[in-house]
Amino acid sequence: MYVIPGPASPVLSSRVATKLNLPLAKVVYSVFPDGELYVKVEKGVKDAVVIQSIRSSDDIVYLMLLFDILSNYRLIAVVPYMGYARQDRAFNEGEAVSIRAIAEFLENHAEKVISVNLHSREAASHFKNLVEIDAMTEIGRYYIGQDVIMISPDKGSLERVKVAAKVAGCEYDYLEKVRIDAETVEIYPKNIDVENKRVVIVDDIISTGGTIAKAAETLKASYIEAACVHAVLAANSLNKLFSSGIKDVIATDTVEQAVSKISVADLIAEKITEVCELY
Ligand code: R5P
Repeated sequence: MYVIPGPASPVLSSRVATKLNLPLAKVVYSVFPDGELYVKVEKGVKDAVVIQSIRSSDDIVYLMLLFDILSNYRLIAVVPYMGYARQDRAFNEGEAVSIRAIAEFLENHAEKVISVNLHSREAASHFKNLVEIDAMTEIGRYYIGQDVIMISPDKGSLERVKVAAKVAGCEYDYLEKVRIDAETVEIYPKNIDVENKRVVIVDDIISTGGTIAKAAETLKASYIEAACVHAVLAANSLNKLFSSGIKDVIATDTVEQAVSKISVADLIAEKITEVCELY
């Protein structure tokens, strides 16, 4: 059994391979002059754990090509960041349910699909047999012993933040919208006064940065940072965050970025050992 590092997850793949004591396959990824993608896996690789986040459409094509090369063997697909999960239903008539198509594609090729903090229960429901990992525990572990308050940007994310706060052993709260008059809505922490406190706004994904920036602008705390599992970080999002008063951004390595200071390698290696037969 090999670990195949997808081009979106080279560092995480190497960490997981080390933890599982499995060889890391040598793979060539390149792009033809016309934009088509190319993959070559070293000779002798058969059964494999393929680790590849889906941040872009190219990432899906790379997975498709890897699956083609290894179609005669046992495959475990680890997709640490499952892109396309926000289109988890047809919001308007005629729209594709993108995550349903991705789920079918992955499950057709891999005996197990493992992912980290899918965007929603609705998204997860399109998989028949998904194994999901909660990395909020690792965010919590990162903050153990630090004097912080964790804030969820909305009530919907509160359950996730609660997991991180419990591991960190800190207080937590969520932001609530309060309508002042017809034109004005203000946002406050529901229960805790955060003035003069070190606040961490915790979310599952930072994409455009809009959600966290808006929360930071409304919070009157002396120091605010942001933590997330998936640092998708669309263009200009870090600028937006720092301009809103955020002092630091911390994320896991499900999407490999400069801010990926926390690794989910342990969680992935443990989960693979738990749910798959390795040899
Ligand atoms: C929303 O449901 C998610 O939990 C995140 O809050 C959202 O995806 C963040 O996106 P953005 O950074 O673009 O505001």
